[in-house]
Amino acid sequence: MLSKLLSITAVIGLTVTATIAQDTAPYFPNNWTWKNASIYPPLFDSTGAWAKAPTNTSLVQEWMKLVNWTGVPNATINKLDANGNLIDPYANAANPYCDWSFDGVCTRPADVVNCPQKGVWGLTFDDGPTAAGAALYDYLASIKQKASLFYIGLMVAQYPQNAKRACDDGHHISIHTWSHQVLTTLTNIEIVAELKYTEMIIKEVCGVTPRYFRPPTGDIDDRVRYIAAQLGYTPIMWDLDTNDWTNGAPGGVTAAQEDANFTIWTSAAQLANDTHGHITLQHELTNFTVNEAIKNIPILKKVYNVMPVASCIGETHPYLENIVYPVIQPNGSVAVPANATNSTTSSIPPVAPTTANVGSASAAVVAESIVPSASSAAYSVGSSADRSVVVSAALGVVVGVIALLANTL
Ligand SMILES: *[C@@H]1O[C@H](CO)[C@@H](O)[C@H](O)[C@H]1NC(C)=O
Ligand SMILES: *[C@@H]1O[C@H](CO)[C@@H](O)[C@H](O)[C@H]1NC(C)=O
Ligand SMILES: *[C@@H]1O[C@H](CO)[C@@H](O)[C@H](O)[C@H]1NC(C)=O
Ligand SMILES: *[C@@H]1O[C@H](CO)[C@@H](O)[C@H](O)[C@H]1NC(C)=O
Ligand SMILES: *[C@@H]1O[C@H](CO)[C@@H](O)[C@H](O)[C@H]1NC(C)=O
Ligand SMILES: *[C@@H]1O[C@H](CO)[C@@H](O)[C@H](O)[C@H]1NC(C)=O
Ligand SMILES: *[C@@H]1O[C@H](CO)[C@@H](O)[C@H](O)[C@H]1NC(C)=O
Ligand SMILES: *[C@@H]1O[C@H](CO)[C@@H](O)[C@H](O)[C@H]1NC(C)=O
Ligand SMILES: *[C@@H]1O[C@H](CO)[C@@H](O)[C@H](O)[C@H]1NC(C)=O
Ligand SMILES: *[C@@H]1O[C@H](CO)[C@@H](O)[C@H](O)[C@H]1NC(C)=O
Ligand SMILES: *[C@@H]1O[C@H](CO)[C@@H](O)[C@H](O)[C@H]1NC(C)=O
Ligand SMILES: [Zn+2]
Repeated sequence: MLSKLLSITAVIGLTVTATIAQDTAPYFPNNWTWKNASIYPPLFDSTGAWAKAPTNTSLVQEWMKLVNWTGVPNATINKLDANGNLIDPYANAANPYCDWSFDGVCTRPADVVNCPQKGVWGLTFDDGPTAAGAALYDYLASIKQKASLFYIGLMVAQYPQNAKRACDDGHHISIHTWSHQVLTTLTNIEIVAELKYTEMIIKEVCGVTPRYFRPPTGDIDDRVRYIAAQLGYTPIMWDLDTNDWTNGAPGGVTAAQEDANFTIWTSAAQLANDTHGHITLQHELTNFTVNEAIKNIPILKKVYNVMPVASCIGETHPYLENIVYPVIQPNGSVAVPANATNSTTSSIPPVAPTTANVGSASAAVVAESIVPSASSAAYSVGSSADRSVVVSAALGVVVGVIALLANTL
């Protein structure tokens, strides 16, 4: 049984160190046909800990050429203390490189931190694919619900079938690094290796190249932002945190506490006060995190229009490939916009909240008109043509995102 120490100082000031048992899945299981197995890095080091993606390969040398290094910010490479917590090099002053982990969650305009439209909920699960996550995927499929999933490269190497299934189910797949490193503690070349190896294995298993990523523990600064942007990735953060992954550790969240937070987030007071939608941080790590999700998603769906982040920010092209993803419309329905292009390079800016899509300040109006439940006619976009997914035969991309054809988000 392998284990990994995960430690984070949460925004609320609670420091939790959790030992998360890893499953005994085989590395690169042989019931999956790996085209590129020999070029993926080893998953574990000699102590059994997750191994950083290597930097001494010819692939990484090629990837380094994708970045214009002239402009990379000269941010200090951060260090971790003995407990694995980040040390702020500017503890007594503002961090000049806008490190999310310090100064009260610093973000830049290009960071996705919430869903812009009020009453919309971006559903996200990190750290998969996992064994525990299979039950979550079953549940989401049963209610035709899509989510954004942030994948760890070396977990894809262990659970390729789970990853492929999630892609086939139409979830929005993004990068969460190869070995879950705290990115501001890595050198430039290590950051490139962690991101690009993950991109490569997701491409091999699912046939798509993600254009979005989430930094592990949320840790990002201007140096990491710059390198990621040069490689074509936009960061997706969150504005509400369940802390679900801390359950079971000393000081970790309990089911009662997580449920109480969902009660607050779905309250009339919260909705009345909101000026934008939300993105929550949840995990597919354990039975606890999965069961909490299964318990709370129906509660969320009564008051929010729940969807993957790509859909809530108006991103019709979350992958480099020629696949058009459904996005939320100003009236709250979700469909492929008639004017969606097949551009594979341009970044489509998030939809800004407008008077048309934020609705009235009254929570009751919000809940009943622009935040339909999954079963309501308004949520279902009508003809399947509205949600057609374009798959480029030329690229040979046969991804399961096509499942969106029949399903609601
Ligand atoms: C592949 O093999 C692994 C480990 O032997 C097993 O857990 C998994 O269920 C298998 N998957 C399929 C689709 O056969
Ligand atoms: C890269 O470094 C690792 C250990 O640091 C070594 O085992 C491996 O052989 C090296 N690979 C190449 C291609 O040099
Ligand atoms: C690299 O970035 C610098 C600015 O940081 C810019 O002046 C230069 O033109 C860029 N080079 C290329 C090849 O884009
Ligand atoms: C980073 O430092 C190097 C060496 O001092 C300098 O040439 C470069 O312009 C600096 N880059 C930025 C973005 O300030
Ligand atoms: C396999 O690796 C090569 C580089 O060696 C890369 O060009 C190719 O895209 C990879 N194939 C897949 C399916 O990831
Ligand atoms: C919400 O969760 C946090 C931990 O993330 C916990 O400290 C807090 O007590 C919870 N709120 C309630 C009302 O239980
Ligand atoms: C209302 O929103 C403001 C601004 O986001 C926030 O500071 C305040 O705490 C919120 N109040 C309630 C009751 O949620
Ligand atoms: C998690 O749930 C699955 C499915 O119900 C079960 O087989 C497994 O034993 C559970 N794992 C733990 C650690 O409780
Ligand atoms: C596409 O349509 C949306 C409304 O559905 C509109 O807001 C947007 O500006 C249009 N984009 C272009 C490039 O015409
Ligand atoms: C996108 O490309 C496909 C063919 O690859 C084409 O059938 C489709 O009409 C295009 N869609 C748009 C909106 O341009
Ligand atoms: C919402 O707007 C879209 C695009 O303008 C339109 O196709 C759809 O019919 C509208 N749905 C509802 C329920 O009004
Ligand atoms: Zn994570």
